[in-house]
Amino acid sequence: MTRLRSIAFDPVDLDPLATVAGHVAVFVGADGKLGRAARRLDRLTRGALTRATTAESWAKKPEGEGVTLAWPAGMAAEALHLIRLERRPGLTEARRAGASLARMAGAKPLVVLAENLARVPQVALGLALRGYAFTDHKSERGEPLGAASFQCAKPEEVAAAAAPVLAVAEGVTFTRDLVNEPANVLTTTEFATRLEALRDLGVEVEVLDEPQMRDLGMNALLAVGEGSASPSKLVVMRWRGAEDAPLALVGKGVVFDTGGISLKPGAGMEDMTMDMGGAGVVAGVMKALALRKAAAHVVGLVGLVENMPSGTAMRPGDVVRSMKGDTIEILNTDAEGRLVLCDVLWYAQEVIKPAAMVDLATLTGACIVALGYENAAVYSNEDTFCGQFLRTAQTEGEGAWRMPLAQAYDDMLKSPIADMKNIGGRPGGSITAAQFLKRFVKDDVPWIHLDIAGVASLKTDSLLAPKGATGWGVLTLDRLVRARFETRPEAETDAEG
Ligand code: BES
Ligand code: MN
Ligand code: ZN
Repeated sequence: MTRLRSIAFDPVDLDPLATVAGHVAVFVGADGKLGRAARRLDRLTRGALTRATTAESWAKKPEGEGVTLAWPAGMAAEALHLIRLERRPGLTEARRAGASLARMAGAKPLVVLAENLARVPQVALGLALRGYAFTDHKSERGEPLGAASFQCAKPEEVAAAAAPVLAVAEGVTFTRDLVNEPANVLTTTEFATRLEALRDLGVEVEVLDEPQMRDLGMNALLAVGEGSASPSKLVVMRWRGAEDAPLALVGKGVVFDTGGISLKPGAGMEDMTMDMGGAGVVAGVMKALALRKAAAHVVGLVGLVENMPSGTAMRPGDVVRSMKGDTIEILNTDAEGRLVLCDVLWYAQEVIKPAAMVDLATLTGACIVALGYENAAVYSNEDTFCGQFLRTAQTEGEGAWRMPLAQAYDDMLKSPIADMKNIGGRPGGSITAAQFLKRFVKDDVPWIHLDIAGVASLKTDSLLAPKGATGWGVLTLDRLVRARFETRPEAETDAEG
């Protein structure tokens, strides 16, 4: 599987610092004042730390970034990393420091002198997330990742605080692996199998096949998969960490989107291997909740389909009846995500009876036109819930921007022959897609729709992810569950961790 560093929290032991191999890292604040470990390293290197941290360039370093002294004299280590970080850093700065370490140390074994630093778990999170690499299909996988050891004044306390944080990192990694996986490997069947493996963590997993979905009347979802050799599936994952009515997380899981008969252009079509990004995030959150044994009741539901053109594929002009009973005129087979989601949303409300619902989907190219790659589009029917989501995303550093819903947009979905069309035209394309979904959400269910087309996977490296799948949303949704749905809710702040 993926390369993930093993991370340990150990007592401080400065004696072997001269002989330790691999990479060593230490933190220094803006004032250049050296802590105990840094002073020891300064002596070993005959003042190299003092020189580096009194240089003019040091003061200009953003917090969380640093410099490397290669083959430092007086030490056996290959490299000594000095990271600018205050003793009580903010969440973002702590993660940035960890991400810097991941870039600077690569695969090398790493000793991090963290002494009395606060937020060590967040540094570790940054290290884990930025150190991720998807190498499953490389014959030469490169060197195995060296372990990272954080030397802390109170290692047991730090380890206990880090455990739930690193559980979320594993959730993010699970999402990224799924999203990065090519579509010939991650078929609908393989996807379901990987979700069934969550049973080992105590998640109840149910897989509905095509006959079962036909009996339920999920004809909109089924229409999308009709042209594919891979069978459509609905996977329901339940984490019962409390007895309250659950939060439902619904994900679009189009394992590959050719557009169907309304075929996409060839250039860039390979990117549509990430069209299951919404389902990937749902899976990652479920894994995180299970690993940290969250005291919340959450049900993840993902519609797994492949959108292919073939002799059995749905065609433009087809009319299908959704599980809700409303009929849909399919005018563009490439607007398939909403056809999948409408039936899964309805199933969720009828069967799961959720207290609230969040859906995620790489739904529209129009979302990228509107917000680029920096923000997911956020839609909601409930201002309080939405406000809490937006603040949580802000805390986690995951871009999210609220977009409008209104009757006039809904009117754009009117069909002359059915209850609605599956497209609303080019103007406001992300909004009309959201309006389509809203027709399948009951008024009394607080609901958030996240169009993650722009943020699920990136062509460039970002702060916490190398290029490719980001896992956007796992951190925010995990924190939202903690703040709003756990039995003993935390205050809605970035408490510790
Ligand atoms: N999966 C695509 C949206 C998408 C585009 C995601 C680019 C990520 C990157 C979706 O199924 C789609 O094809 N949407 C169409 C809708 C249109 C036909 C109304 C689109 O955005 O062009
Ligand atoms: Mn499409
Ligand atoms: Zn799609």
